[in-house]
Amino acid sequence: MKKAGILLSAALLLGGCQQADEPKKEEQSAETKKEEAKEKQPSGPQLDAVYFNQVKQVDGKAVIGNPENLIALVNKDYYLPGDYEPADLVRPNVPFSFGNQDIEKSYLRKPAADALEKLFQGAEKEGIHLFAVSGYRSYDRQVQILANQTAQVGKEKALEAVAPPGQSEHQTGLSMDVSAQSVQFDLVQSFEKTEEGQWLAENAHHYGFILRYPKDKEAVTKYMFEPWHFRYVGEKAAKEIYENGWALEEYFQNAEKI
Ligand code: DAL
Ligand code: ZN
Repeated sequence: MKKAGILLSAALLLGGCQQADEPKKEEQSAETKKEEAKEKQPSGPQLDAVYFNQVKQVDGKAVIGNPENLIALVNKDYYLPGDYEPADLVRPNVPFSFGNQDIEKSYLRKPAADALEKLFQGAEKEGIHLFAVSGYRSYDRQVQILANQTAQVGKEKALEAVAPPGQSEHQTGLSMDVSAQSVQFDLVQSFEKTEEGQWLAENAHHYGFILRYPKDKEAVTKYMFEPWHFRYVGEKAAKEIYENGWALEEYFQNAEKI
């Protein structure tokens, strides 16, 4: 092959300008083919415009104007309004690490609560016993949690694991921290290695949940790996996110607004 290539090049050189143009044509056609292949590649997921953040600038902060959006992107760039409290909070019928106490963190928005019940039922069918640890949190509760963590490890370290008030997904009422008896119901990275943590990582998307802060995505999410934090986004988005190995941020980078 190499020899043929050398011979061909030599022939073209000897053949003058007219023939020397030939390979250029080949290059062009290869380029055109590449372009065509690109066009044929399936585009990213299509997503209705209502599911994108509608951002308003308030005092230099990007505040989400449609916080009730089930796929709201809440992160270190986008804030929920400080006074946002979901209107449809309910207490899912699942086991909690703190028993039957009727407290704020046991609540979720109705669509997420219904999906969480199905998720836990699906796990139970396979002998996996899950416990809900922390769901909805008000803005004020997040203020306390960040202050407690800051007192323990300092602000910089605290912010790797705890969202600033207004930037926590827990305020959406769409996220639940999940654990198991095998790790004493704690929220620890070793949960990843447990059968409960593995079952969740592999199956949560069937029920509309995503592992929101994946391992090796710290640069994208700006949070450390949290194998316990599951966010409801609905089954379609959850499947697309799972299959592409995306963080929620990457889903929005790839989604086509329709
Ligand atoms: N642990 C997550 C990032 C939160 O505080 O919302
Ligand atoms: Zn969480």
